[in-house]
Amino acid sequence: MQIRVLSDIEAISHEASKIFVNLAKKYIASSGRFVNAISGGSTPKRFYELLASDNCSGNVDWSRVHFFWADERCVPKESEESNFKLAFVHLLSKIEIPAENIHRINGEDVSEKGAKDYEDEIRRFFGALDVPVFDLIILGVGEDGHTASLFPDSTKSLDEKTRLAVPVYTEKMNRITLTLPVLNNARHILFLVSGQSKARVINDILADKGKRGNYPAGLINPVHGDLLWLIDEAAAGE
Ligand code: 6PG
Repeated sequence: MQIRVLSDIEAISHEASKIFVNLAKKYIASSGRFVNAISGGSTPKRFYELLASDNCSGNVDWSRVHFFWADERCVPKESEESNFKLAFVHLLSKIEIPAENIHRINGEDVSEKGAKDYEDEIRRFFGALDVPVFDLIILGVGEDGHTASLFPDSTKSLDEKTRLAVPVYTEKMNRITLTLPVLNNARHILFLVSGQSKARVINDILADKGKRGNYPAGLINPVHGDLLWLIDEAAAGE
C-alpha cells in the first residue's frame, strides 16, 4: 500500500488523471483494452473533467477503454444523485467512446434485479473467470468509512463471498455495489480522498491500524494488485 498526500483536490485530480492515462496506455498496449470501474460522490468530478480535457483525452484510445461502476445509487440515470450522471456529464459525453464500452449499473430497476443484471453483464464481458480482474478501480471514502456502497453496518454485503454485485438497502436510498472479492481482485486500486471532514476516518483507517477493520474502506486490500491512496492535506490533517 502506498499513501501520497497532495495539496488539494486539484492536485489529487491531476495525479489521478495521469495515473489513469498511463495505465490505459499500458493495458491497451499489452492486452488491447483497459477496463476500469469508477465510483460516485463529489470527489471524482474534477478528475473526470481533467480526463476529458484535450491534454489527457488526446492520449487515450477511448475505443479500447471500458467503464464499469464500483457502485450506483438506485435513482433514475438523470438524477443529480446518479453516479452514472456525474461521469456522463463531466467525462463520457465529452469523449469519443462507443456506447457499448459503457457498462452502467441500472439504478432504475428494483435493486435486486439491478444487481443481478449487472453481475450478468460483468460475467458476459469477462467470460468464464470466477472473479473478474479489473485493471483499475477508483474508490472514495465516506465520513463513516464506507467505500463503494459497502457500509459499516451492512454485514450481508460485507460478508458476500460469491456474488459479484449485491443490492444494499439504506435509509436514504437503495444502492447496488460490487462486492469485496471483486474490488480486492483488481490490478490497481486508487482511493481519492479530499476534505477535512474525512480527516478522522482517514486517521482511523491509515494511521491507527487497529481500527482499520472497523471500516469497509479499511477492508480494501488487493489480493494481487496494488493500492494507492491519494489524499489531500485537509483529509490527512489528523
Ligand atoms: C457513492 C460512492 C461512495 C463515495 C464516497 C465518497 O455513490 O456515494 O461511490 O462510496 O465514493 O461516499 O463520496 P464523496 O466523494 O462525495 O466524499
